[in-house]
Amino acid sequence: MNSIRLGCDYNPEQWTPDVWRADVALMREAGVDLVAINIFGWSSLEPAPGQYAFDDLDEIIELLHANGIRVNLGTGTSSPPPWLTTRHPEVLPAAADGTTRYPGGRQAWCPSSPVFRDRAFALVREVARRYGEHPALALWHVSNELGCHNALCYCETSAEAFRTWLRRRYGKIETLNEAWGTSFWSQRYGDWAEIQPPRAALSVRNPAQIVDFHRFSSDELLDYYRGETAILRAHSSAPVTTNFMVTAHIRNLDYWSWAPEMDVIANDHYLDHRLGDPVAELSFAADLTRGLAGGRPWILMEQAAGAVNWQPHNLTKAPGEMLRNTLTHVARGADSICFFQWRASAQGAEKFHSAMLPHAGTDTVAWREVLRLSAALDAIGEVAGTTVDADVALIFSWESWWAAEGEARPSQAVEYLDQVHATHRALRELGVTCDIVSPDADLSGYRLVVVPCLYMVGDVAAERITEYVAAGGHLLVTFFSGIVDERDRIRLGGYPGAFRDVLGVRTEEFAPLKPGHEVTLTNGATGALWTERLRTTTASTVASYLDGPLPGIPAITRNEFGDGVAWYLATSLDARGMRDMARNVVQNAAVDLLKEDGGDVEAVRRTGDGRSYLFVVNHGVNPVEYPATGHNLITDERVGGTLRVEGGGVGVVREEAPA
Ligand code: GLA
Repeated sequence: MNSIRLGCDYNPEQWTPDVWRADVALMREAGVDLVAINIFGWSSLEPAPGQYAFDDLDEIIELLHANGIRVNLGTGTSSPPPWLTTRHPEVLPAAADGTTRYPGGRQAWCPSSPVFRDRAFALVREVARRYGEHPALALWHVSNELGCHNALCYCETSAEAFRTWLRRRYGKIETLNEAWGTSFWSQRYGDWAEIQPPRAALSVRNPAQIVDFHRFSSDELLDYYRGETAILRAHSSAPVTTNFMVTAHIRNLDYWSWAPEMDVIANDHYLDHRLGDPVAELSFAADLTRGLAGGRPWILMEQAAGAVNWQPHNLTKAPGEMLRNTLTHVARGADSICFFQWRASAQGAEKFHSAMLPHAGTDTVAWREVLRLSAALDAIGEVAGTTVDADVALIFSWESWWAAEGEARPSQAVEYLDQVHATHRALRELGVTCDIVSPDADLSGYRLVVVPCLYMVGDVAAERITEYVAAGGHLLVTFFSGIVDERDRIRLGGYPGAFRDVLGVRTEEFAPLKPGHEVTLTNGATGALWTERLRTTTASTVASYLDGPLPGIPAITRNEFGDGVAWYLATSLDARGMRDMARNVVQNAAVDLLKEDGGDVEAVRRTGDGRSYLFVVNHGVNPVEYPATGHNLITDERVGGTLRVEGGGVGVVREEAPA
């Protein structure tokens, strides 16, 4: 408390002991106080089956401890050593076409493999026994980014585990047949043994089977996590977590089911320059991570000091950019900021990945940026422990994501995350912070609930959303929502089935647009990707299409339902149109805007214990001004009514209560 931890991954296996000592001295200089080690330690710790070599790890831990640095201790199991995959090739995972994925990279293991679990758990037991009560131990770091590469395994071991999982879920084969709609294309099963994972096929595969395979795969790795955790708990009272990948390109784990099992939520985040707006995605990921943490502070377990090495074009960070990125995470609830990694590797697949300490050493812009960041985190340390207030909730679902992006769907150009990002971005541009919550969340505390593109929704969640509106809540639903139930079965009688009544509309058919084609709306906005033949039942029309396939048909509607209001958006609006619509909806719901314009600025409040902090992170080039009174912790200056933040700058104001 009262400080924001600064940390990093450290891979001392790659360096000699003299480098370790130089590194720890520099860590102290940079104010690093939490170091993740032993993430990829297995082949060093257990060079041959059952032969453990702990001397180096002992020495590193003692060195860190002697320097007052706490340890975030990896269990070391993320990548198997060559002896294991050589002696037991059955632990190797298989791709959807049945071909083996060989070692030579990392994470080459099948999540269901009993042999892998047996060997990995033996290592965890040794590590936990040895270091479980070490005074330097702050946190256990189970494996690493579970499921980053091996989430979906199609080998025979996985197939058998999938059958077991299905038996538990459905009990009877007939129930499974109904759930998967196997009367279609002669897929009816007579026996569990006939079922396979959705391996590569000649045509479109059964979509319900694919969604269940995703559910199974997420559960299987969670079960693995539980296995390691149980061993750690038997030998240690330190908190346990693993690093999530709430980021744009990874989607294979349903973190809503994982989150309750973590002692603290930790996320890895890298700016993705393949996206149109990487910084807006960062804000989204931070909000989603806070959602997983149930609003409590969380750990940014990895970010890059500069470029990564795994995108096609790896952009570095301009001076000030790392500070802005970091404060965006802190503004949205992070209380610890860690990097991958401390010292840039000289060898191996990540030798072109940036680090806090670059190849060129300390006489570098990168190193000075680390020192600058460290000073800024010290200056704002008192925000630790406060939380983020939000009047708006955005419903997000991994399950629906898997289902919505089926192989055969109305439009391949409609991607779930794009639609979610567009909605979140519009709110962010208005200075409206939203909590990102699961479809099953309690919505009663929110003034507005936003439901972008929630294709799959269960009855209970749909009812809860409907009741929330009836009780006076405001709701915004966007197209391709409420279409199917949890079995991926269409909700019949007109789209958007689950939300037809609350929205007061009924859609007969979808009319997607070709990429690049646009429609004009009567309110001046343009739509793309999607239109639908919609009729209002009880809703009123806010805007209709002027052209495109459905001129005159409503595109935006508003429905008074019970004591609340429900809006529907039936197309993908341009950014300005989306922002205008969001402003309308937000103001109608009496939600405060921290700003009204667009512009690439974060404006977020953290509060707690009677304190309030306004974060303004200016990602743009022009100065911005915000009403604020108090003390700017970054510049150590009084703010007397207006906070001015230069282009590229940041401000964190401890606000004085209004007189
Ligand atoms: C992930 C991993 C790290 C490293 C970084 C590189 O986050 O956890 O080991 O590979 O990616 O960006």
